[in-house]
Amino acid sequence: MKAAVDGKVQDIRAVWFEDGKVRMIDQRELPARIVLVDFDDYTDVAEAIRNMTTRGAPSIGATAAYAMCLAALKKCDLKKAAADIKAARPTANDLFYAVDFMTDALGKGSDPIEAADRYADMMVDKCTTIGKYGATLIHDGMKLMTHCNAGALATVDVGTALAPMRRAWADGKRFFVYVSETRPRLQGMQLTAWELGQEGIDHAIIPDGASAYYMSKGVDLIITGADRIAANGDFANKIGTFDKAIAAKHFGIPFYVAAPISTFDFDTKTGDDIVIEQRSSTEMTTVGNVRIAPEGSDVLNPAFDVTPADLVTGFITEKGILRPSEIWKVKE
Ligand code: MRU
Repeated sequence: MKAAVDGKVQDIRAVWFEDGKVRMIDQRELPARIVLVDFDDYTDVAEAIRNMTTRGAPSIGATAAYAMCLAALKKCDLKKAAADIKAARPTANDLFYAVDFMTDALGKGSDPIEAADRYADMMVDKCTTIGKYGATLIHDGMKLMTHCNAGALATVDVGTALAPMRRAWADGKRFFVYVSETRPRLQGMQLTAWELGQEGIDHAIIPDGASAYYMSKGVDLIITGADRIAANGDFANKIGTFDKAIAAKHFGIPFYVAAPISTFDFDTKTGDDIVIEQRSSTEMTTVGNVRIAPEGSDVLNPAFDVTPADLVTGFITEKGILRPSEIWKVKE
Protein backbone atom coordinates (compact mmCIF):
# COMPACT_ATOMS: atom_id res chain seq x y z
CA MET A 1 0.00 0.00 0.00
CA LYS A 2 1.08 3.61 -0.52
CA ALA A 3 1.52 5.71 2.62
CA ALA A 4 3.48 8.78 3.68
CA VAL A 5 6.16 7.79 6.17
CA ASP A 6 8.23 10.72 7.54
CA GLY A 7 6.70 12.93 4.85
CA LYS A 8 7.73 10.60 1.99
CA VAL A 9 5.11 8.55 0.12
CA GLN A 10 6.33 4.99 -0.21
CA ASP A 11 5.14 1.43 -0.71
CA ILE A 12 4.79 -0.15 2.67
CA ARG A 13 3.49 -3.43 4.09
CA ALA A 14 1.56 -3.87 7.32
CA VAL A 15 4.38 -6.04 8.71
CA TRP A 16 7.86 -7.11 7.54
CA PHE A 17 11.34 -8.19 8.76
CA GLU A 18 14.31 -5.83 8.68
CA ASP A 19 17.68 -5.60 10.47
CA GLY A 20 16.91 -8.52 12.75
CA LYS A 21 13.58 -7.08 13.87
CA VAL A 22 9.89 -7.49 13.08
CA ARG A 23 8.58 -4.10 11.98
CA MET A 24 4.94 -3.15 11.64
CA ILE A 25 2.57 -0.24 11.29
CA ASP A 26 1.01 0.50 14.68
CA GLN A 27 -2.58 0.36 13.44
CA ARG A 28 -3.88 1.88 16.69
CA GLU A 29 -2.39 5.22 15.64
CA LEU A 30 -4.14 5.46 12.26
CA PRO A 31 -5.46 7.56 10.63
CA ALA A 32 -3.87 10.39 12.62
CA ARG A 33 -0.29 9.30 11.89
CA ILE A 34 1.80 6.43 10.64
CA VAL A 35 3.89 5.10 13.49
CA LEU A 36 6.27 2.20 12.86
CA VAL A 37 7.24 -0.06 15.74
CA ASP A 38 9.74 -2.92 15.89
CA PHE A 39 10.36 -5.91 18.14
CA ASP A 40 13.21 -8.38 18.47
CA ASP A 41 11.59 -10.78 20.91
CA TYR A 42 8.84 -13.18 19.91
CA THR A 43 6.89 -12.59 23.12
CA ASP A 44 6.64 -8.87 22.29
CA VAL A 45 5.37 -9.73 18.81
CA ALA A 46 2.73 -12.01 20.35
CA GLU A 47 1.72 -9.13 22.60
CA ALA A 48 1.47 -6.83 19.54
CA ILE A 49 -1.06 -9.30 18.09
CA ARG A 50 -2.97 -9.46 21.36
CA ASN A 51 -3.14 -5.69 21.88
CA MET A 52 -3.98 -5.12 18.20
CA THR A 53 -0.92 -3.09 17.24
CA THR A 54 -1.43 -5.26 14.16
CA ARG A 55 -4.71 -7.02 13.35
CA GLY A 56 -6.78 -8.59 10.58
CA ALA A 57 -6.54 -12.33 10.00
CA PRO A 58 -3.82 -12.61 7.29
CA SER A 59 -1.69 -9.86 8.89
CA ILE A 60 -1.99 -11.67 12.23
CA GLY A 61 -0.80 -14.80 10.39
CA ALA A 62 2.23 -13.10 8.83
CA THR A 63 3.10 -11.43 12.14
CA ALA A 64 2.94 -14.83 13.82
CA ALA A 65 5.25 -16.23 11.12
CA TYR A 66 7.77 -13.48 11.87
CA ALA A 67 7.41 -14.14 15.61
CA MET A 68 8.31 -17.78 14.96
CA CYS A 69 11.24 -16.54 12.86
CA LEU A 70 12.55 -14.49 15.84
CA ALA A 71 12.08 -17.48 18.15
CA ALA A 72 14.13 -19.65 15.77
CA LEU A 73 16.88 -17.04 15.31
CA LYS A 74 17.22 -16.73 19.09
CA LYS A 75 17.21 -20.51 19.50
CA CYS A 76 14.13 -20.45 21.78
CA ASP A 77 12.11 -23.58 22.55
CA LEU A 78 10.01 -23.64 19.36
CA LYS A 79 7.22 -25.77 20.86
CA LYS A 80 6.74 -23.24 23.64
CA ALA A 81 7.01 -20.32 21.20
CA ALA A 82 4.35 -21.87 18.95
CA ALA A 83 2.00 -22.30 21.92
CA ASP A 84 2.66 -18.74 23.21
CA ILE A 85 2.06 -17.19 19.80
CA LYS A 86 -1.09 -19.24 19.13
CA ALA A 87 -2.49 -18.02 22.45
CA ALA A 88 -2.38 -14.35 21.36
CA ARG A 89 -5.93 -14.30 19.90
CA PRO A 90 -8.43 -17.17 19.60
CA THR A 91 -10.57 -16.62 16.50
CA ALA A 92 -8.51 -15.95 13.34
CA ASN A 93 -7.51 -19.24 11.71
CA ASP A 94 -4.57 -17.60 9.96
CA LEU A 95 -2.73 -17.35 13.30
CA PHE A 96 -2.72 -21.13 13.73
CA TYR A 97 -2.12 -21.78 10.01
CA ALA A 98 0.96 -19.52 9.99
CA VAL A 99 2.50 -21.00 13.15
CA ASP A 100 2.01 -24.52 11.74
CA PHE A 101 3.51 -23.39 8.39
CA MET A 102 6.62 -22.12 10.20
CA THR A 103 6.90 -25.17 12.47
CA ASP A 104 6.85 -27.33 9.34
CA ALA A 105 9.30 -25.13 7.40
CA LEU A 106 11.75 -24.86 10.31
CA GLY A 107 11.46 -28.60 10.90
CA LYS A 108 12.54 -29.14 7.29
CA GLY A 109 15.57 -26.90 7.82
CA SER A 110 14.36 -23.72 6.09
CA ASP A 111 16.10 -20.45 6.90
CA PRO A 112 13.79 -18.66 9.41
CA ILE A 113 13.79 -15.28 7.63
CA GLU A 114 13.35 -16.85 4.19
CA ALA A 115 10.42 -18.96 5.44
CA ALA A 116 8.60 -16.06 7.13
CA ASP A 117 9.16 -13.77 4.13
CA ARG A 118 7.87 -16.57 1.90
CA TYR A 119 4.71 -16.77 4.03
CA ALA A 120 4.11 -12.99 3.84
CA ASP A 121 4.76 -12.91 0.08
CA MET A 122 2.38 -15.84 -0.38
CA MET A 123 -0.39 -13.87 1.39
CA VAL A 124 0.15 -10.86 -0.86
CA ASP A 125 0.03 -13.08 -3.97
CA LYS A 126 -3.18 -14.74 -2.77
CA CYS A 127 -4.79 -11.37 -2.10
CA THR A 128 -3.79 -10.11 -5.55
CA THR A 129 -5.53 -13.13 -7.10
CA ILE A 130 -8.60 -12.61 -4.87
CA GLY A 131 -8.68 -9.05 -6.24
CA LYS A 132 -8.61 -10.32 -9.82
CA TYR A 133 -11.52 -12.74 -9.30
CA GLY A 134 -13.53 -10.37 -7.12
CA ALA A 135 -13.21 -7.44 -9.51
CA THR A 136 -15.38 -9.34 -12.02
CA LEU A 137 -18.33 -8.79 -9.63
CA ILE A 138 -17.92 -4.99 -9.65
CA HIS A 139 -19.39 -2.80 -12.39
CA ASP A 140 -19.59 0.92 -13.12
CA GLY A 141 -22.10 2.82 -11.02
CA MET A 142 -22.46 0.15 -8.33
CA LYS A 143 -22.95 0.88 -4.66
CA LEU A 144 -20.90 -1.46 -2.45
CA MET A 145 -20.78 -1.99 1.30
CA THR A 146 -18.06 -3.41 3.53
CA HIS A 147 -17.48 -3.83 7.26
CA CYS A 148 -14.43 -3.64 9.50
CA ASN A 149 -11.06 -3.55 7.71
CA ALA A 150 -10.18 -6.32 5.29
CA GLY A 151 -7.70 -4.19 3.40
CA ALA A 152 -3.93 -4.04 3.00
CA LEU A 153 -3.48 -3.32 6.70
CA ALA A 154 -5.27 -6.56 7.55
CA THR A 155 -3.44 -8.75 5.02
CA VAL A 156 0.21 -7.57 4.77
CA ASP A 157 -0.80 -5.78 1.54
CA VAL A 158 -3.62 -5.51 -1.06
CA GLY A 159 -6.47 -6.86 1.14
CA THR A 160 -9.21 -9.42 0.81
CA ALA A 161 -12.56 -7.58 0.74
CA LEU A 162 -10.79 -4.43 -0.50
CA ALA A 163 -8.69 -6.26 -3.11
CA PRO A 164 -11.53 -6.48 -5.67
CA MET A 165 -12.27 -2.78 -5.09
CA ARG A 166 -8.62 -1.78 -5.58
CA ARG A 167 -8.40 -3.87 -8.74
CA ALA A 168 -11.73 -2.69 -10.21
CA TRP A 169 -10.85 0.95 -9.50
CA ALA A 170 -7.40 0.51 -11.09
CA ASP A 171 -9.16 -1.00 -14.13
CA GLY A 172 -11.13 2.24 -14.50
CA LYS A 173 -14.46 1.13 -13.02
CA ARG A 174 -16.17 3.79 -10.92
CA PHE A 175 -18.34 2.86 -7.93
CA PHE A 176 -19.12 3.94 -4.38
CA VAL A 177 -18.45 2.17 -1.07
CA TYR A 178 -20.41 2.44 2.19
CA VAL A 179 -17.96 1.83 5.04
CA SER A 180 -19.55 0.97 8.38
CA GLU A 181 -17.65 2.48 11.29
CA THR A 182 -17.25 -0.86 13.15
CA ARG A 183 -17.78 -0.16 16.84
CA PRO A 184 -16.09 -0.40 19.22
CA ARG A 185 -12.57 -0.26 17.73
CA LEU A 186 -13.62 1.59 14.58
CA GLN A 187 -11.56 -0.39 12.06
CA GLY A 188 -14.02 0.65 9.30
CA MET A 189 -13.87 4.36 10.00
CA GLN A 190 -10.21 4.58 10.96
CA LEU A 191 -8.58 2.00 8.67
CA THR A 192 -10.82 1.11 5.70
CA ALA A 193 -11.82 4.72 5.04
CA TRP A 194 -8.14 5.68 5.27
CA GLU A 195 -7.15 2.97 2.77
CA LEU A 196 -9.92 3.85 0.32
CA GLY A 197 -8.92 7.51 0.64
CA GLN A 198 -5.30 6.65 -0.24
CA GLU A 199 -6.57 4.95 -3.41
CA GLY A 200 -8.98 7.77 -4.28
CA ILE A 201 -11.96 5.38 -4.13
CA ASP A 202 -15.33 7.11 -3.53
CA HIS A 203 -16.73 6.19 -0.14
CA ALA A 204 -18.65 7.38 2.91
CA ILE A 205 -18.43 6.29 6.52
CA ILE A 206 -21.79 5.29 8.00
CA PRO A 207 -22.83 4.33 11.54
CA ASP A 208 -23.03 0.56 11.98
CA GLY A 209 -26.74 0.91 12.67
CA ALA A 210 -27.35 2.62 9.30
CA SER A 211 -26.45 -0.42 7.18
CA ALA A 212 -30.02 -1.70 6.66
CA TYR A 213 -31.21 1.86 6.00
CA TYR A 214 -28.71 2.30 3.14
CA MET A 215 -29.45 -1.21 1.84
CA SER A 216 -33.11 -0.18 1.60
CA LYS A 217 -32.01 2.78 -0.56
CA GLY A 218 -30.01 0.56 -2.91
CA VAL A 219 -26.80 -1.38 -2.34
CA ASP A 220 -25.67 -3.69 -5.16
CA LEU A 221 -22.97 -5.78 -3.53
CA ILE A 222 -21.56 -6.45 -0.06
CA ILE A 223 -18.03 -7.82 0.44
CA THR A 224 -16.51 -8.56 3.85
CA GLY A 225 -13.48 -10.50 5.01
CA ALA A 226 -13.47 -13.46 7.41
CA ASP A 227 -11.49 -14.59 10.43
CA ARG A 228 -12.39 -18.24 10.23
CA ILE A 229 -14.54 -20.25 7.82
CA ALA A 230 -15.86 -23.58 9.10
CA ALA A 231 -16.17 -26.72 6.97
CA ASN A 232 -19.89 -26.07 6.36
CA GLY A 233 -19.31 -22.46 5.20
CA ASP A 234 -20.40 -20.71 8.41
CA PHE A 235 -17.87 -17.96 9.04
CA ALA A 236 -16.68 -15.67 11.84
CA ASN A 237 -15.96 -12.04 11.10
CA LYS A 238 -16.08 -8.72 12.94
CA ILE A 239 -19.11 -8.24 15.16
CA GLY A 240 -21.92 -6.75 13.08
CA THR A 241 -21.24 -8.85 9.98
CA PHE A 242 -24.13 -11.22 10.81
CA ASP A 243 -26.60 -8.29 11.01
CA LYS A 244 -25.52 -7.13 7.56
CA ALA A 245 -25.89 -10.60 6.08
CA ILE A 246 -29.44 -10.91 7.45
CA ALA A 247 -30.38 -7.49 6.08
CA ALA A 248 -28.76 -8.32 2.73
CA LYS A 249 -30.90 -11.46 2.47
CA HIS A 250 -34.00 -9.37 3.24
CA PHE A 251 -33.21 -6.94 0.40
CA GLY A 252 -31.87 -9.59 -2.02
CA ILE A 253 -28.36 -8.08 -2.08
CA PRO A 254 -25.46 -10.43 -3.00
CA PHE A 255 -23.23 -11.02 0.03
CA TYR A 256 -19.66 -12.18 -0.68
CA VAL A 257 -16.85 -13.15 1.68
CA ALA A 258 -13.28 -12.66 0.44
CA ALA A 259 -10.65 -14.84 2.11
CA PRO A 260 -7.52 -16.87 1.33
CA ILE A 261 -7.33 -20.62 1.95
CA SER A 262 -5.46 -19.93 5.22
CA THR A 263 -8.74 -18.66 6.71
CA PHE A 264 -10.63 -21.92 5.98
CA ASP A 265 -10.63 -24.35 8.90
CA PHE A 266 -11.93 -27.74 7.79
CA ASP A 267 -11.31 -29.15 11.29
CA THR A 268 -14.04 -26.85 12.61
CA LYS A 269 -17.29 -28.44 11.47
CA THR A 270 -19.74 -25.54 11.93
CA GLY A 271 -19.83 -21.97 13.18
CA ASP A 272 -20.95 -23.20 16.61
CA ASP A 273 -17.44 -24.60 17.14
CA ILE A 274 -15.63 -21.30 16.42
CA VAL A 275 -14.18 -19.66 19.53
CA ILE A 276 -15.35 -16.05 19.73
CA GLU A 277 -12.94 -13.63 21.38
CA GLN A 278 -14.39 -11.50 24.18
CA ARG A 279 -12.47 -8.25 24.54
CA SER A 280 -12.11 -5.76 27.35
CA SER A 281 -15.14 -3.72 28.44
CA THR A 282 -13.07 -0.53 28.30
CA GLU A 283 -13.11 -0.75 24.49
CA MET A 284 -16.84 -0.09 24.83
CA THR A 285 -17.05 2.25 27.77
CA THR A 286 -14.30 4.79 27.07
CA VAL A 287 -13.48 7.24 24.30
CA GLY A 288 -9.84 8.21 24.62
CA ASN A 289 -9.45 8.02 28.36
CA VAL A 290 -12.91 9.36 29.12
CA ARG A 291 -15.56 6.98 30.43
CA ILE A 292 -18.86 7.47 28.58
CA ALA A 293 -20.87 4.62 30.14
CA PRO A 294 -22.54 4.63 33.54
CA GLU A 295 -20.47 3.05 36.30
CA GLY A 296 -21.92 -0.28 37.36
CA SER A 297 -23.46 -1.45 34.05
CA ASP A 298 -22.20 -4.80 32.82
CA VAL A 299 -20.66 -4.76 29.34
CA LEU A 300 -20.50 -7.56 26.77
CA ASN A 301 -17.93 -7.08 24.02
CA PRO A 302 -17.65 -10.01 21.58
CA ALA A 303 -15.11 -9.16 18.87
CA PHE A 304 -16.71 -11.41 16.25
CA ASP A 305 -19.99 -13.02 15.28
CA VAL A 306 -20.79 -16.07 13.17
CA THR A 307 -22.77 -15.77 9.94
CA PRO A 308 -24.43 -18.98 8.72
CA ALA A 309 -23.41 -20.27 5.30
CA ASP A 310 -26.93 -19.94 3.88
CA LEU A 311 -26.59 -16.14 3.99
CA VAL A 312 -23.41 -16.21 1.86
CA THR A 313 -23.69 -15.82 -1.92
CA GLY A 314 -20.08 -16.82 -2.50
CA PHE A 315 -16.53 -16.99 -1.18
CA ILE A 316 -13.94 -15.09 -3.22
CA THR A 317 -10.72 -17.10 -2.85
CA GLU A 318 -7.41 -17.34 -4.68
CA LYS A 319 -8.84 -20.48 -6.31
CA GLY A 320 -11.89 -18.68 -7.70
CA ILE A 321 -15.36 -17.71 -6.51
CA LEU A 322 -17.10 -20.62 -4.78
CA ARG A 323 -20.61 -21.18 -3.48
CA PRO A 324 -20.74 -22.35 0.16
CA SER A 325 -21.49 -25.90 -1.04
CA GLU A 326 -18.29 -25.85 -3.13
CA ILE A 327 -15.70 -24.85 -0.53
CA TRP A 328 -14.48 -28.44 -0.11
CA LYS A 329 -12.63 -27.73 -3.39
CA VAL A 330 -10.09 -25.57 -1.51
CA LYS A 331 -9.27 -28.20 1.13
CA GLU A 332 -5.48 -28.66 1.12
O1 MRU B 1 -10.32 -7.62 15.44
P1 MRU B 1 -9.72 -7.47 14.08
O2 MRU B 1 -9.52 -6.05 13.68
O3 MRU B 1 -8.47 -8.30 13.93
O4 MRU B 1 -10.83 -8.07 13.11
C1 MRU B 1 -10.60 -8.05 11.72
C2 MRU B 1 -11.72 -8.58 10.92
O5 MRU B 1 -12.76 -8.96 11.44
C3 MRU B 1 -11.49 -8.70 9.46
O6 MRU B 1 -12.68 -8.53 8.75
C4 MRU B 1 -10.94 -10.10 9.16
O7 MRU B 1 -9.81 -10.36 9.95
C5 MRU B 1 -10.59 -10.27 7.76
S1 MRU B 1 -9.12 -9.38 7.38
C6 MRU B 1 -8.75 -9.64 5.77
